[in-house]
Amino acid sequence: MNNKKIAKLNLPNGKVIELPVISGSLGPDVIDITSLYRQADMFTFDPGFTSTGSCKSDITFIDGDQGILLHRGYKIEDLAEKSSFLETSYLLMYGDLPSKEKKLEFVNSITMHTMLNEQISNFYRGFKDNAHPMAILCGVVGAMAAFYHDSTDINNADERKIASYRLIAKMPTIAAMAYKFSIGQPFVYPNNSLNYSENFLNMVFSVPAEKYEINPIFADALDKILILHADHEQNASTSTVRLAGSSGANPFACIAAGIASLWGPAHGGANEAVIKMLNEIESIDNIKKFIDKAKDKNDSFRLMGFGHRVYKNYDPRARVLQKIAEKVLKEKHLLDNKLFDLAKELEYLALNDDYFKEKKLYPNVDFYSGIILKAIGFPVSLFTVIFAVARTVGWISHWNEMISDQNSKIGRPRQLYTGKPQRELS
Ligand code: CMC
Repeated sequence: MNNKKIAKLNLPNGKVIELPVISGSLGPDVIDITSLYRQADMFTFDPGFTSTGSCKSDITFIDGDQGILLHRGYKIEDLAEKSSFLETSYLLMYGDLPSKEKKLEFVNSITMHTMLNEQISNFYRGFKDNAHPMAILCGVVGAMAAFYHDSTDINNADERKIASYRLIAKMPTIAAMAYKFSIGQPFVYPNNSLNYSENFLNMVFSVPAEKYEINPIFADALDKILILHADHEQNASTSTVRLAGSSGANPFACIAAGIASLWGPAHGGANEAVIKMLNEIESIDNIKKFIDKAKDKNDSFRLMGFGHRVYKNYDPRARVLQKIAEKVLKEKHLLDNKLFDLAKELEYLALNDDYFKEKKLYPNVDFYSGIILKAIGFPVSLFTVIFAVARTVGWISHWNEMISDQNSKIGRPRQLYTGKPQRELS
């Protein structure tokens, strides 16, 4: 890092203070304001953190103007084409792609942790049968701290590793159980002869009474979806995990916090919202009406799956997902799929509309993922859950990076107070 550049800030009182400018390996420089309060007796004000870097990180790089996403230096398109979800997970966690031996060891270790403590199944029975699976996921992952005491010491690297592996391995099991519970079917135990995505499909779709054939095209599509959602630097849920973890909270609590943040429709909940929106649009003739609604300042409606805080260009993940959608729909002989046709027409019309062009609003990762998941057979209520399964490795990697950083501090933003001044209680 080069610390020689300086930014000068003229304060209203005439004082000029100097702040170091730091360069990363890629991306714009940042102004280091850690001494600002000390020097100027002022804070910065940046709700939504649109101009604020919250940490240093080696994991993921995004160039939003160019539409580039790199994990540890590798392009997301290449990882989606040539890697597997668990190999990409290793890359995110350890910084490099694994050797053949390391990969085998990692995959084996994850596979050996797929089962849940049997008592956790009792926990499920406490939920209402119509509970949203994200609510169940949040609760069960948080409760893991009550079951796996031997991996909650965040200062012990071995315990952190076991907790990380447990979370990655058990998320599909927890997610599938949430679904099975909601439809009144028996839980299906993990099958360690299957790979990560095959096992997930098996736990969601098979029933003990019948033979279930795993469709390799669906398993491959799911694996790619997991890769595409695995990490995205300091998004809302990852920042939530980091903030929760900064206080020293155990990893299960931190990941539960991340799940809660992901659930919102402005974040991971958008994949569910896209399908609801397409169903509401119903026919190509109605698209214009919805585009007009999205442009209307007096209407809170937004095109779901469109726009991004960082991408001001096509989200590279959406491009890959569009291709996967075609493959999966072809497999299901559904290429004239109504939702897919609607989505492509909506994308075409929005991308040619001045409002969307001016504001640089493009399809994001959530725009096509729901169409693929629906074609595979996943219910809409599991879409955000699948996002959470994938993002767990990203959360874990950031949490580990933060804990391993000797300089990390508890996250504690300040505020601009606009309430009543001090007053007397009579
Ligand atoms: N439809 C219509 N207008 C939009 C949209 C949209 N989807 N997204 C942004 N805008 C407009 C917005 O009204 C604002 O206009 P103006 O400058 O006139 O006030 C401008 O574009 C900038 O929007 P913003 O809300 O200030 O931008 P942001 O960076 O705070 O929000 C976003 C990013 C993703 C929350 C937003 O684009 C959005 O709500 N999109 C729809 C929900 C969605 O698809 N979320 C998934 C995000 S990607 C995956 C993930 O993070 O999980």
